[in-house]
Amino acid sequence: MTETDFIPKPYSKHIKSGDFKWSSPSNIALVKYWGKKKDQIPENPSISFTLDYCKTTTKLSFSEKENKADFSFDVFLDNEKKDDFKPKIETFFKRVERYLPFLKNYHFKIETSNSFPHSSGIASSASGMSALALCLMSIEKELVHDDLEINFTQKASFLARLGSGSACRSLEGDLVVWGEHVDVYGSSDLFGVKYPFEVHENFKNYQDTILLVDKGEKQVSSTVGHNLMHGHPFAGQRFEQANKNLTDIKSILKSGDLDAFIGLVESEALTLHAMMMTSMPYFILMKPNTLQIINKIWAFRESTGSKVCFTLDAGANVHVLYPENEAGSVLKFIKSELVTFCQKGEYINDKVGFGAKLL
Ligand code: DP6
Repeated sequence: MTETDFIPKPYSKHIKSGDFKWSSPSNIALVKYWGKKKDQIPENPSISFTLDYCKTTTKLSFSEKENKADFSFDVFLDNEKKDDFKPKIETFFKRVERYLPFLKNYHFKIETSNSFPHSSGIASSASGMSALALCLMSIEKELVHDDLEINFTQKASFLARLGSGSACRSLEGDLVVWGEHVDVYGSSDLFGVKYPFEVHENFKNYQDTILLVDKGEKQVSSTVGHNLMHGHPFAGQRFEQANKNLTDIKSILKSGDLDAFIGLVESEALTLHAMMMTSMPYFILMKPNTLQIINKIWAFRESTGSKVCFTLDAGANVHVLYPENEAGSVLKFIKSELVTFCQKGEYINDKVGFGAKLL
């Protein structure tokens, strides 16, 4: 597949107005995407668990307009007009216009809400961009009238990627790979694909409790962060390592080897942060409480034999990952020993989910 495969044939139907509503979840990467080339092409393949509870719901209403020279849209978060969201969406529209030639024909009203608090330090770009991409695909499906020439979910993932890279991994579940990799059949730099291999029972219904250590605005935007990998002294080795980790996680997911899973996932999280600490300019996005939590998790594992582990995004919050059969004991541990390190004691209980839904 190439980019041009996503350019549609002229539409056969004319629609004046309508609306679509989708919910789309967030995801948490096990092998991280960090570093991108032009046009949102990742430097290395990544794999993530799709989440279940953390999601964005977006209603997109559209009505035909006279002036077809520019994009026209308004954005609302929880019924409040959000003009500060507009530049990101304008950039997204510009990037996808070639693939959705109807964009300038309509005025759009984008009404969005998140299941998680806006100021939780949880990025809503993956869930938000994937929900918007799906609403736009629903419009295209109507305009085409007959069967789409292209797979709906694949094109939605392709479009979501152009909004935010990790968003292309949010449409399906429970595991999604994005980025071409020799060992993953069908994988592509252009869109996410559902993980096509056998997954051991141990990883079914995996739990993710997100500890909100720092609920503030992101210190480094992801675009700035990814750009720091250009000319980074360890970039080449990092991209190789991610490729190798993707090969390794394939056998781990098949065998159910939780110790190997822990080693790979925690190393990926710390490597992501190591990349930020060793770039120029450099950043430390962990907070003292992030380290406190990591040390507590290691001590708990040591003393109980638990298979709980952590991963991190480009921020201070900690995702605590554990198998379903440990849910009771790990939650008890979280409440008694980790919640004290969360801002206002806040955390979110999530688990692996199965992707976006048309509402
Ligand atoms: C650390 O997808 O937010 O969460 O493509 O610039 O929107 P953009 O970046 P984004 O980067 C996410 C990076 C990460 C790791 C991951 O999810 O793989």
